[in-house]
Amino acid sequence: MAPSAQRSPEILSGLGAAILDALPLSLYVVDRDLRVVAWNRARERGPIGKPRRRVLGRPLAQILTAEGYRQVEPILRRVFASGEAHEETSETRAGGRLYHGGRLPVVHGGKVSHVLAKYDDITERRALEMQVIASDRLAFLGQLVAGVAHEIANPLAGVAGCAEALASLALQHPEPAVRQEAESFRDLVRGEVGRCERLVKSLLETARPKIGEAADVAETVRSVLRLLERHPAFARVKVVSQMPDALPPAQIDPDSLRQVVLAVALNAGRAMKGSGTLRIRASRTGARLVLDLADNGPGVARAVRPHIFEPFFTTSPGEGSGLGLAIARSLLRRAGGDIVLVPRRARGACFRIALKRVRKRT
Ligand SMILES: Nc1ncnc2c1ncn2[C@@H]1O[C@H](COP(=O)(O)OP(=O)(O)O)[C@@H](O)[C@H]1O
Ligand SMILES: [Mg+2]
Repeated sequence: MAPSAQRSPEILSGLGAAILDALPLSLYVVDRDLRVVAWNRARERGPIGKPRRRVLGRPLAQILTAEGYRQVEPILRRVFASGEAHEETSETRAGGRLYHGGRLPVVHGGKVSHVLAKYDDITERRALEMQVIASDRLAFLGQLVAGVAHEIANPLAGVAGCAEALASLALQHPEPAVRQEAESFRDLVRGEVGRCERLVKSLLETARPKIGEAADVAETVRSVLRLLERHPAFARVKVVSQMPDALPPAQIDPDSLRQVVLAVALNAGRAMKGSGTLRIRASRTGARLVLDLADNGPGVARAVRPHIFEPFFTTSPGEGSGLGLAIARSLLRRAGGDIVLVPRRARGACFRIALKRVRKRT
């Protein structure tokens, strides 16, 4: 081994070091004794960054955390022994960032002289991917619903027609009791078919974005609360609602807002296991209307927080579909609003619904 490596730990200088510094990922290089011989600029920054002058020439064991070293040491030794790269399959979370790691053998003079460890910060990329997956799934779901609704409309019309024909035959029956029964069955079929038709129509309408509608926030909250009064998830839930007078209308169709408020309130009721306090507060800030729904249940676990708005994500697979918050967010965003989980010191979860207020025409 080159003895000078011990005295002058930095094996790279000039252009070589500058090239490493220019790379958009953080990396370091260790020699066979697991001493750091290169440490690029990106590796100096961020939540796990350390200044280069404090690490060069030192054993990696003194630089990483005990836990970090325990994980990385066997991997580095394996790369030295096998000469094969190790791409991390799991991802590392540090300081709220997500990294993808890789350890690459550096072959010099016919043997693995060093190992290069690189960390790619994939936080933004992953967030974007998740958003794309989520909106893809929702779009697919919307298409599916519209498709099914459309397919049901035709056979339904056929069934209704056949039922009418059958009924008119039976209505010619000589027995008055049979005629009466035929009439009551016909009415039943008419009623149920009508219900299905309305359902199909409303499904098709849901899949189509509505624009230019306005909702009275206070009235929507009141109507949802009326509905929840008798719901088992709200058996012993106290609702404290604070609505300022003369709140301007919100730019969203009332049915969508109702669906959103209902989904969030039901989640709160379920999280509190049917007893606790739900505080609903509306306020107005500039061009926005804000509706906070805060419960005093267990709150949303930290590990779960990044996922609660993803379609089909649920922590109660038996009860929930995992679509409540995903659809709520999609409805709100379509109307120029949003819904977020608000961090809070107090116990429980607080969801904030932001809406655009309808601008008065002049
Ligand atoms: N008020 C709340 N308190 C605690 N956790 C909540 C609350 N609201 C939502 N969550 C979490 O978010 C997840 C997703 O909610 P949602 O999309 O409505 O699906 P579902 O209610 O079907 O589970 C829930 O499974 C739960 O883990
Ligand atoms: Mg739900």
